[in-house]
Amino acid sequence: MFHSPLIDSVLIRLFRFRTRGFMKMEEADGAVPCPPREGGCYLYAHIPFCESLCPFCSFHRVQHCHTQATRYFTALRTEIRRYHAAGFTFDGVYFGGGTPTTEPDELVATIALVRALFGVREVSVETNPKDLQPPLLEKLRAAGVTRLSVGVQSFDDTLLREMERYEKYGGGEETAARLRAAVGLFPTLNVDLIFNQAHQTLASLERDLEIVLSLGVNQVSCYPLMTSPSVERRMAGAMGIPDGRRLRTYFQAIVRKLRPDFTASSAWCFTKNGQGSDEYIVASENYVGVGSGAFSYLDGTLYATTFSLAGYEERIARGLTGIVTKHRLGEGDSLRYTLLVRMFGLGLERAWAQRRHGRIFFWRLWGELRTLEWLGAAHRTTRGWQLTEDGMYWLMLMMSEFFESVNVYRDAMRAHVHGELEAANASVVAVAAP
Ligand SMILES: C[S@@+](CC[C@H](N)C(=O)[O-])C[C@H]1O[C@@H](n2cnc3c(N)ncnc32)[C@H](O)[C@@H]1O
Ligand code: SF4
Repeated sequence: MFHSPLIDSVLIRLFRFRTRGFMKMEEADGAVPCPPREGGCYLYAHIPFCESLCPFCSFHRVQHCHTQATRYFTALRTEIRRYHAAGFTFDGVYFGGGTPTTEPDELVATIALVRALFGVREVSVETNPKDLQPPLLEKLRAAGVTRLSVGVQSFDDTLLREMERYEKYGGGEETAARLRAAVGLFPTLNVDLIFNQAHQTLASLERDLEIVLSLGVNQVSCYPLMTSPSVERRMAGAMGIPDGRRLRTYFQAIVRKLRPDFTASSAWCFTKNGQGSDEYIVASENYVGVGSGAFSYLDGTLYATTFSLAGYEERIARGLTGIVTKHRLGEGDSLRYTLLVRMFGLGLERAWAQRRHGRIFFWRLWGELRTLEWLGAAHRTTRGWQLTEDGMYWLMLMMSEFFESVNVYRDAMRAHVHGELEAANASVVAVAAP
């Protein structure tokens, strides 16, 4: 309805203002939190190791080192057992990173533990295109992985070179062939694409989508290029500066091109059978993050674990979790967080919101809900509110804004352990040098 960069920028400023309290974390004692009182719970395990570090990435990741990673996985399994002993149950587990497949045997042992302790049905694992090798795929399949998510980013070799991924993970054609061979091995095979890179043309994006359509994969997650203060300079140097004014055109091209084969399962994830999403934060009301640099959300409280790998091992050895900070969201913030996540997941059910939060939900969020309706971002149905196609675009903007605020927190936490992370990266580079 309202298609103007001015509206977008007003909306984002308003969103930033209304959610400014989300990430105000304070020190926490590290004890296992209480299991959630209501709603499902997902387990997120962060594996921060990568073969080498991409210039655009703000996730918590370090250069892979086998000895360090082995110790890390051992600590991770101890932490997972601690949540089990505290009475947690999980509907599914998501291994994200970093690159969880840098240590396949450790990963498989950890999946086996989670399945044995919690009987989870869904097991999601992130990987890179180079790791799509038959022996590894077979290991993951046998371990019970139900969703494999591959960080492709683009099939365009020029862009892959700028992203410093061409040499390490292979060119577009090679990746497409590997994906084709992996089709059918897992219930869900997801491809991650990043759109709105500075030198990405509309034609290049459309070609990426055509390739995705031709592969036979059944899910694609299209992220707008996000940034953070710590990567901005390196990213601009390697890839140029993206133009935010093209976001709507590019987003519309994605929706248009993927239809009708794929339908939206969140504002940036599209699935062939319409099932499942890329975001564990949408899959479940609560989630527990284990490992270094992971976040949890339990009954309205956000928690974050330490970004120090040595500190993580030390905390686990002392009988704690990795949690170092937390923030109990106030009533307004926790309702707004719920609205953001539910609308990002395409809609909000009135009866569910009433049951979970009571009538206060509709009173406190009256302005937000009316604004979404007035903008044409959501319309009312007999069951609640449903996101429109325009709404998907705005929720995509809001979620990337939220993730960028999480990135600012990540930057601050990583700055505390800058020396340790730099030393870890340098020592691996030194060992790898001839
Ligand atoms: C943490 S990575 C894990 C995948 C694997 N390490 C890889 O890169 O192939 C998960 C996804 O986050 C997305 N991502 C990373 N940095 C991003 C950024 N700056 N903007 C948008 N998406 C990003 C990429 O699409 C990536 O595939
Ligand atoms: S994009 Fe993937 S491979 Fe690159 S640094 Fe981030 S997590 Fe590692």
